[in-house]
Amino acid sequence: MLNAKSGPRIRHLAPESAPYEALTVDKLTPVIGAELAGIDLSKPLSDRQIDEIHRALMENLVIFFRDQTLTAEQHLAFGRLFGDLHLHPAAPHEKGLPELMTIYADKDSPRANGEGWHSDVSCDEEPPMGSILYIRTCPPRGGDTLFASMYAAYEALSDRMKRYLEGLTAIHDGEDAYRGTYANYGVADRPAYPRAEHPVIRTHPVTGKKALYVNRGFTTRIVGVPRDESTAILNYLWDHAENPLFQCRFRWQENSIAFWDNRCVQHRAMWDYWPHTRSGHRVTVAGDRPV
Ligand code: SIN
Repeated sequence: MLNAKSGPRIRHLAPESAPYEALTVDKLTPVIGAELAGIDLSKPLSDRQIDEIHRALMENLVIFFRDQTLTAEQHLAFGRLFGDLHLHPAAPHEKGLPELMTIYADKDSPRANGEGWHSDVSCDEEPPMGSILYIRTCPPRGGDTLFASMYAAYEALSDRMKRYLEGLTAIHDGEDAYRGTYANYGVADRPAYPRAEHPVIRTHPVTGKKALYVNRGFTTRIVGVPRDESTAILNYLWDHAENPLFQCRFRWQENSIAFWDNRCVQHRAMWDYWPHTRSGHRVTVAGDRPV
């Protein structure tokens, strides 16, 4: 029987990684997150560097770079190395650059981006593959971002729960998440926001691994089960997904970059730095329909 004395909740064994030649990779935890060094993203990157950045992302789910000095165009060009860029359905962007999302909170802000656990724009039919956040202005302390592995969340479910969830789908709805949310930036609401049905357990198109794919930010109900059952199961899964065992926490400095894989990661930004300012930009790489 499984109880508190049955050993660790997850037995995560990271597969042996081939050596990196074009950069260095320093893991934050055994489960998720790595800081990459020895690379200047403002310079043209070789095929090997691009391959190794992609491999580090696949192996670590979220990767971090320090001390990068990028123009808006260089930030966008870095994103395009990994796919077409995604247009956010609601958030403000820099003038004339619709793919460059503005991240900004100061003492007068009514809200800050990403304050609850979510996977970016999971309400889209084809949610973004990855997000590349570049923070230029940091508060003296605070404003960390937490990232959680949804592979680990899936692995740590009981076999009975995995069997129950297999084949289920859930609705992800942008309506509550986005309506009125960006009014303080002068963004007018659209008549409607995206809504999509996705598998509760998705299979990553590159790694072939299964990941839990429901999040508090967008998922509203599981399809084909009574409403009360859906609510109870979603509440369990959200609590489960937020277990600190599956997380890393990134402490920003000015000119840091985080690049996360939305297909297997949820994240949450801490707004604990009032009255200070935190700001930067996000470039988001388009993705596929989850299967
Ligand atoms: C986001 O959800 O993209 C914002 C994350 C952050 O500001 O750390």
